[in-house]
Amino acid sequence: MGAFAWQGQVVVITGASGGIGAACARALDARGAQLVLNARSESGLAALNLPDALLLHGDITLAATREQLVARTLDRFGRVDVLVNNAGVGVYWPPSAARDEDTRRMFEVNFFAPLALAQAVVPAMRRQRSGVIVNISSIAGKVTLPWLTLYSASKFALSSATAGLRMELARDGIHVMAVYPGYVKTQFQDHAIGAYPPPEIAKGKRFAISAQQCARDILRGVERRSRSVVTPGWWRGFAGLHLLFPSLVEARLIRMNAGGGHR
Ligand SMILES: NC(=O)c1ccc[n+]([C@@H]2O[C@H](COP(=O)([O-])OP(=O)(O)OC[C@H]3O[C@@H](n4cnc5c(N)ncnc54)[C@H](OP(=O)(O)O)[C@@H]3O)[C@@H](O)[C@H]2O)c1
Repeated sequence: MGAFAWQGQVVVITGASGGIGAACARALDARGAQLVLNARSESGLAALNLPDALLLHGDITLAATREQLVARTLDRFGRVDVLVNNAGVGVYWPPSAARDEDTRRMFEVNFFAPLALAQAVVPAMRRQRSGVIVNISSIAGKVTLPWLTLYSASKFALSSATAGLRMELARDGIHVMAVYPGYVKTQFQDHAIGAYPPPEIAKGKRFAISAQQCARDILRGVERRSRSVVTPGWWRGFAGLHLLFPSLVEARLIRMNAGGGHR
């Protein structure tokens, strides 16, 4: 297999109006990819100022939005090379008291929508006998974070579906990759549904990487056809520590979770 070149690749990104999705869009535009960008905010997508990109605003949890995204991509470009399932939202409710409607809404965004969109691009990728599906999980999809328990559950579910899709679709020439970001400087905490993060987590932003660095790691993972990307890489040590010494890590996480509040 030759070196991967982004020039001319048709890339669909959900949640591209801000944060990691917007950083991926900018990095890919600079590399000559042909972009199809989705988010709910029409003005947020327009503010990216990427005149060559096809902008399709809409809630990705709606079947009509997903159908339009795939149909318009195929109409315009005749193919879809890479899908980046990036749109996602947090829920900081403690699991014993979470509002059911918030948990279900989060699962719609974080799990059911990316699964459905992956299913929607597979027929075209099968015809092409090529394609890459990138699912943005989280380090919370490897280790349950007590301040984000139900979010962790949604990202564990996405990680598991990603591994299964990868094994199913390998024979069709389709690669499926999971991304596990640690802490990234975006509006993620402000956009969470229904509850505040505990103070130590909110101020933990000082350990965060930029969305640009996260985007670079995601692109490199696609170029190398990695099974998964942990960004930044040192979070791999955290996940490994948790596997070896779960009680120790849980005791530390319990201390970090003190003082969480609700909206
Ligand atoms: N930031 C972190 O520390 C971190 C760590 C690990 C994993 N992640 C994951 O990385 C991904 C991106 O998060 P981020 O940090 O960039 O968060 P963000 O700044 O809140 O951006 C989220 C993006 O998703 C879009 N979005 C949300 N709900 C949507 C919906 N129903 N339909 C379509 N678009 C929707 C938002 O745009 P609109 O509001 O315009 O729809 C926005 O563009 C998420 O999957 C998140 O779980 C983030």
